[in-house]
Amino acid sequence: AYTAKIGPSVLSSDLSQLGRECERMMECGADYLHLDVMDGHFVPNITFGHPMVECLRKAVGPNPFFDMHMMVSRPEQWVKPMAAAGANQYTFHLEATMNPGSLIKEIRESGMKVGLAIKPGTTVEELAQWVGQIDMALVMTVEPGFGGQKFMEDMMPKVSWLRSQFPSLDIEVDGGVGPDTIHRCAEAGANMIVSGSAVVGSADPRSVIALLKDVVLE
Ligand code: DX5
Ligand code: ZN
Repeated sequence: AYTAKIGPSVLSSDLSQLGRECERMMECGADYLHLDVMDGHFVPNITFGHPMVECLRKAVGPNPFFDMHMMVSRPEQWVKPMAAAGANQYTFHLEATMNPGSLIKEIRESGMKVGLAIKPGTTVEELAQWVGQIDMALVMTVEPGFGGQKFMEDMMPKVSWLRSQFPSLDIEVDGGVGPDTIHRCAEAGANMIVSGSAVVGSADPRSVIALLKDVVLE
């Protein structure tokens, strides 16, 4: 019913080489790139914004799909700049906006796909009412803010429930996902897999990506 995709998060790579890292991940079999935007307010960490995305787009060319994970307090503010910078999907946090409906509309009008993310403390029922209007649901499996944290297995019931209700929805998991935890995500029904440190920090990213994909496709 759905396809499995692996999207490395380049957050834990050498940020001075980000363009090169993105290219390397695509060469190693990544299906898309998951780019983590943090504003130091919604989460206690800062990464990069649309000027960096514009440079990355120039570096990697038109094809790689950029899934922007917007861990920011005012997601409305960056829709147009991100679209102009070459982002393909704008994944915002349900916790960050008072008006998800109008934000979804703005994202669509800007030509990007819509992703909707929930933090571990947010229920999946709160997300469910928007599913008809979005392209992808992101169930966080760590508290957003940092790479390299421990996978929260107790988020898997959210994924299974979503999968049971919405057989063809793209469901992404993000945080602590790697060869040791991918089975749980696949069983629950996630089909878009973000993996940061496990892929980027590996001596052989190509094998890790292939292994992750195999498990999800099983
Ligand atoms: C966490 C970010 C994740 C993170 C994933 O706030 O949203 O995308 O970089 O990295 P790992 O796989 O190392 O948890
Ligand atoms: Zn992320």
